[in-house]
Amino acid sequence: MENQVEEIKRRLDIVEFIGSFITLKKTGRNFKAVCPFHQEKTPSFVVSPDRQIWHCFGACQDGGDVIRFLMKWENISFYEALKELATRVGIKLKRLAGEDLAWKNKERLLGLNFLSCEFFEHILHKSPYGSRALSYLSDRQINEKIIKKFHLGYSPDSWDSLLRFLKKKKYELEEMLAAGLLVKSDHGHYYDRFRGRLIFPIFNPRGEVVGFSGRSLDQQDKSAKYINTPETSLYHKRETLFGINMAKDAIKKEGNVFLVEGEFDMISPYQHGIENFVAIKGSAVTHEQLMLLKRYTGRVTLALDMDPAGLEAMRRGIDEAEGLDFDLGVVVFDFGKDPDEAINKDLEKFKKTISRPTPIYDFLIDLAQKKYPGNDAFSKKMVAQEVAPLIGRIKNPIIQSHYIKKISSILDVSEGSVSLLIRRIGQKAKTKFFIKTKNEKTQSVDRELLIEKYLLSIIFQSENPHSIAKSIFNDLALDELILPSYQKIVNVLFDYEKLAKKFDLKEFVGKLSPALIAVFDEIYLFASGQVEFETENIKKLSLETKRLSLKRRITSLVNRSGENNEREETKELCRRLNEVEKTLSSL
Ligand code: CTP
Ligand code: MN
Repeated sequence: MENQVEEIKRRLDIVEFIGSFITLKKTGRNFKAVCPFHQEKTPSFVVSPDRQIWHCFGACQDGGDVIRFLMKWENISFYEALKELATRVGIKLKRLAGEDLAWKNKERLLGLNFLSCEFFEHILHKSPYGSRALSYLSDRQINEKIIKKFHLGYSPDSWDSLLRFLKKKKYELEEMLAAGLLVKSDHGHYYDRFRGRLIFPIFNPRGEVVGFSGRSLDQQDKSAKYINTPETSLYHKRETLFGINMAKDAIKKEGNVFLVEGEFDMISPYQHGIENFVAIKGSAVTHEQLMLLKRYTGRVTLALDMDPAGLEAMRRGIDEAEGLDFDLGVVVFDFGKDPDEAINKDLEKFKKTISRPTPIYDFLIDLAQKKYPGNDAFSKKMVAQEVAPLIGRIKNPIIQSHYIKKISSILDVSEGSVSLLIRRIGQKAKTKFFIKTKNEKTQSVDRELLIEKYLLSIIFQSENPHSIAKSIFNDLALDELILPSYQKIVNVLFDYEKLAKKFDLKEFVGKLSPALIAVFDEIYLFASGQVEFETENIKKLSLETKRLSLKRRITSLVNRSGENNEREETKELCRRLNEVEKTLSSL
């Protein structure tokens, strides 16, 4: 097992591997990117080809090897990631010693879903029960090729046909229930969840079936129009985007994704070769969905219905997208109630509409004006109040002033009054932020650690670590470093220097204990991370470290205080502190 893990990692290059998911930019020895796992603007995600590791110095504070990356990216377990990587490099994994139970369960459920998908598909195409659904699909202009491509199916109008089918395949009722395929009645009876419905399998980005959506074929049906898989260990509504497996490549290529509400609104454009649509399935746009999309694009265009529910979904989507720094636009089809209807009514007009999205701010200003159409002072105030918070959050000053101008001219008030309103709203937000940071007392220790990490990182990123280390530890004593693990790492470096002619990273890491390697990897990449000090200030920083260490020692002595020799020591430390501070201010 251990050997296999190493073998798989040997066959993969981390830069190439991570580079196939996100865009990496070379900076010095390492590569940098905007972290795909949290929201940020300044890249703090670093990949090292030398160490074959990655680290996020931003909000994640996480890092590791290719396996860890894939685990996070796909939100899967260690064994799942390992299995996927093994397939990629053509290694057959031996049976795992301590098998991961959760993983096995997940595999079982995926198998169940896959089989059920095949079952529904078979019923649609190969049984007489499917004919009504087929003619429904043809009424809705969906062609044969697309039906197959999306693996659409039909669930017979029966209480237990899927149940019996899966039983024959040796699955347990409890498993079927866990996959959301059955419902358990109050009396403890199990029956099929999907009955007499057109079935849309829901795939994750990797193309695995995680759930189903079933549409009723009856206009008169008193039950819900759509029934969906409930939350299961595979299906999480908040993370789901219908069609993502089919659309992801086009989204990447186009640099834009259209968000629609329903299955048909995703499928119909796809059938016409417009492949960068995904459906949120009628609820609100969630943070999780946008994080998923962030992997493929920085631009999102909302194509939601303009009914109250659609507008609500949009409003929440805007807030989420703002935080994630998406370039957000809106398209409105005024010639159909939803994209599916619009495209079937007039393909050319549809294409034209999606080619010109309205930037979100213009759209919102428009919307606010429609809400308060009056020309009186009150209406103007209401319009301004609706849009000001959003305009206030625009980072680019040119774009912001463009919209300030726009609002002031529409409302026929001075630009100054709009700016004032925006500033007032902004100030409220700032005060809150200030109070929050003031309450956090961790700052000083954080700063000491940052400086030390940075110094060590500079050492190991340089062409000649030995000479830089010497110059730094000329000013600084080893025990002035705050963490013993940092001291140990430098110690190993000095020991290594006695043996080696030239610094070799692999050889050096070989001398570290496993626990120290973890610390080292984070230090190693740190200087490439988000924090930037000026390199020529190395001397300043080492003296600053010394200064802080002296202050620490003095404080602890004073707190104990009393004995004479301690007083002497304190005096001596104060004298040295004075010296260091003098030197520092002369630099
Ligand atoms: N939806 C759902 N459950 C419901 C109703 C709707 O999950 N009870 C989801 C479906 O994905 C649906 C979407 O919300 O496609 C939008 O619903 P709606 O606007 O009511 O229907 P349409 O998308 O127009 O559905 P269709 O085109 O099939 O009539
Ligand atoms: Mn529709």
